[in-house]
Amino acid sequence: MNFKEKKFPEGFLWGGATAANQIEGGWSKDGKGVSDADICTGGSHTHSKRITPVLEEGTFYPSHEAIDHYHRYQEDIALFAEMGFKIYRFSIAWTRIFPTGEESEPNEAGLQFYENVIDECLKYNIEPLITISHFEMPYALTEKYNGWADRHVIDLFVKYCEVIFNRYKGKVKYWLTFNEINCATMPVGNLQGTGILNEGTTDFMNQVDNPQVRFQALHHQFVASAKAVKIGHEIDENYQIGCMIANMMSYPLTPNPADVLENQKGMQLSNYLCGDVQVRGTYPSFSKRYFAENGITIEKAPEDDEILKAGTVDFYTFSYYTSFCKSADPNETTAGNVFGGAKNPHLKSNDWGWQIDPTGLRIALNEIYDRYNIPLMVVENGLGAYDKVETDGTINDSYRIDYVKQHIEAMHEAILDGVDLIGYTPWGCIDLVSLSTGEMAKRYGFIYVDRHDDGTGDYSRKRKNSFYWYKKVIASNGEEL
Ligand code: BG6
Repeated sequence: MNFKEKKFPEGFLWGGATAANQIEGGWSKDGKGVSDADICTGGSHTHSKRITPVLEEGTFYPSHEAIDHYHRYQEDIALFAEMGFKIYRFSIAWTRIFPTGEESEPNEAGLQFYENVIDECLKYNIEPLITISHFEMPYALTEKYNGWADRHVIDLFVKYCEVIFNRYKGKVKYWLTFNEINCATMPVGNLQGTGILNEGTTDFMNQVDNPQVRFQALHHQFVASAKAVKIGHEIDENYQIGCMIANMMSYPLTPNPADVLENQKGMQLSNYLCGDVQVRGTYPSFSKRYFAENGITIEKAPEDDEILKAGTVDFYTFSYYTSFCKSADPNETTAGNVFGGAKNPHLKSNDWGWQIDPTGLRIALNEIYDRYNIPLMVVENGLGAYDKVETDGTINDSYRIDYVKQHIEAMHEAILDGVDLIGYTPWGCIDLVSLSTGEMAKRYGFIYVDRHDDGTGDYSRKRKNSFYWYKKVIASNGEEL
């Protein structure tokens, strides 16, 4: 290893990431069914988006049109190619393939749409990286089974996987089963993560929670993911199938051992529970005590342990945006973002209270690699910010360049530390609808989209300054930052 080397390893997969419900629109086009994302209204940092099982007239539902990628995917992928993408992470909407999740035959129009997207990527030598489930199961399954709470959904998911694994065989190599599967370790992960909608839930940020049901649902997802991995390998031995975990990096707020312990417990539950099951194929020992102390009993079918062992993932991917602190003192102020936690006095935050911590990414990469020893990819990272279009049409997003640059530097350091990091797909490479707030105003893209929270905008795309910068980064394989 040359420790002075500025470039990333040869073949490093530079790219970007999106998710179907946050970009496509066309929510009811060509046979698509209603997904859990389609019943969420717009919101903001201060007003939670609402969940309305019955769609309200006159209410704005951001996923219904999103940024209209459904009709503009060719233009968008051409822009990704212009930046030099080697890989593009996107998700398939389950509801385009099985509108209610229970049809006996898949919807050909949906299959064809994603085949077109894949072919368009391949035209530019962009490797597709497909998330099979990114926060949007068919709403019909939520209604009928309370989502993943019911074991029956496992087979429906596996069938969906089999269909897409067979259809795109030979064209796709990289797959991820569930996006940020560990969101189900938090109450906010009910609807988005596990399709659970408990009676009385109206607000996305304050969902009625039943941890017993939520962790049972997570168990069903583990089993479904493991079955999918096994079947995927049987369909095509070249398939590389990974997990995707939201990295929730945290530090003890003080050196007080009580804070250190609190932090360790938090990291175990939020980061390592899911990784351990999906990479090692067994529940970690600490989970037993957590379940017992919280009155949670996971009901397992006799074959489940075998299934988990037989379906461990080939690589580990994660999202990384921020970090926070943990304290044993319940009065410690929270960092004011979706992850909770106490504020770190050493870090600055973006306008949504997400603290900016590139060093945390290096630490996370080292810890994860030491624990699992399989290839890693950072499949989400980026800065949500308000962007301004100048009168001459330029968008000078130097703050975003700064953020991404520092995180790339941190990844490079981690590679020098010995971490086998194989790719980087920054989130929202094109502006899209925010998951936590439902806003368009929270922009991540290198490409600006003229679409706004009041539903106005002509959807035109513009290159931000970060577009030209990221293009140079890729062309120089990370040398020119
Ligand atoms: C991740 C999700 O949690 O973070 C994405 O996988 C999401 O779907 C991203 O968009 C950024 O979060 P937000 O709330 O700023 O959109």
